[in-house]
This record gives sequence, C-alpha cells and structure tokens, in this order.
Amino acid sequence: MGIMKILKKLLIAMVMAAVPLAAVQAGPMDKPVAARKADMKLRAFYMGQLGGMAKGKIAYDAKVAQGAANSLLALTKLDGSKMWPMGSGNDKLGDMTRAKPEIWSTYPEVAGKGKAYKMAVENLAKAAGSGLDALKGAIGPVGKGCGGCHKPFREKKKK
Ligand code: HEC
Repeated sequence: MGIMKILKKLLIAMVMAAVPLAAVQAGPMDKPVAARKADMKLRAFYMGQLGGMAKGKIAYDAKVAQGAANSLLALTKLDGSKMWPMGSGNDKLGDMTRAKPEIWSTYPEVAGKGKAYKMAVENLAKAAGSGLDALKGAIGPVGKGCGGCHKPFREKKKK
C-alpha cells in the first residue's frame, strides 16, 4: 500500500470516529426540549410579575396584571404535542432535560395536571385586571397548578 493510500484510510477512520461525538451534541430532541423550556420560561416570566404584585413587591397595575394573565392564557393555547415527543425524558436524554419518564409512562396523568393548570389560568385571566384582591384570590390555584405538575413530573434541580 502506498503512503497516500494509508493516509487516506487513516483520515477516513478519523472522520468516522468523530461522527458519534457529533451525534451526541446535536440530536433530534434538541429543538423540542428547547421549545418546551422556552414555554416554561415565559410562564415563569409572567408569573413573576403577577406574583410580585400579589406579594406587594411590585405596585399593582391593572393593565400589567391583565396583560400578564392574558399572556399565560395565550401560552395554554400553544400546540405542545411536538414539544413532548416520546423518548425525550431524562432517562434517555440525561441532563439535557428535567422531564421525568413518568410523563409518558403514566399518561394521561400529566394531561390532567395540564387541564387543572389551564382552568386556573382561565380563572386568573378573568380576575387579574379587576383589582389586587381579585388577583390575590386567583393566583394561588395557578401556582399550585405549576407545582402540582412539577412535583411528579419534573426532576429536582441538581446542586
Ligand atoms: C403539565 C405540567 C406542567 C405545568 C402545568 C407547568 N410546568 Fe413547568 N415544567 C414542567 C416540566 C416537565 C418541566 C421540565 C422540562 C424539561 O426540562 O424538558 C418544566 C420546567 C419548568 C422550568 C424550567 C425551564 C428550563 O429552562 O429548564 C420553569 C422555569 C417552569 N417549568 C416554570 C413553570 C411555571 C411558572 C408554571 C406555571 C405558571 C409551570 N412551569 C407549569 C411541567 C409543567
């Protein structure tokens, strides 16, 4: 075998060895996981405003409160079906996600949690702009809706 042929073979072997590494870095679940995290971040953003007002850390503003509640309501209307593909739990994806495999193995339990959350948000959207007391009365069930799903279906943060 000539030296060029050996070099060529070596180069091909090196490229082949690099392929599995690249596959780990960018997989088909990257975008769905990023999308659902973005959804959750937006929920936290609006809940932060509403919670801040309810706790008296931010001055109550009917327009801001109504806008935040409307935004949470709009987020409940996103089509999440492609954000949560089977096999995208942390049993398969490791640290890339905190979604527990129970989301799929106990289905439709998670859908029930989603429905309870949605009902609480619908109620919040009716109340948030009508005064601080109305906001305070409606925000509790929404927070419970977040926690009620996170507890069984979201992995605790690693320290
Ligand atoms: C029906 C279930 C469910 C409901 C309701 C829910 N979450 Fe989540 N949330 C999850 C799951 C599952 C994850 C983990 C997603 C992942 O890591 O892929 C998550 C992740 C998050 C994260 C971390 C996002 C990141 O960047 O890693 C935040 C913040 C969050 N949720 C906030 C909220 C807030 C605020 C609410 C309520 C207003 C809420 N969630 C309602 C299931 C839910």
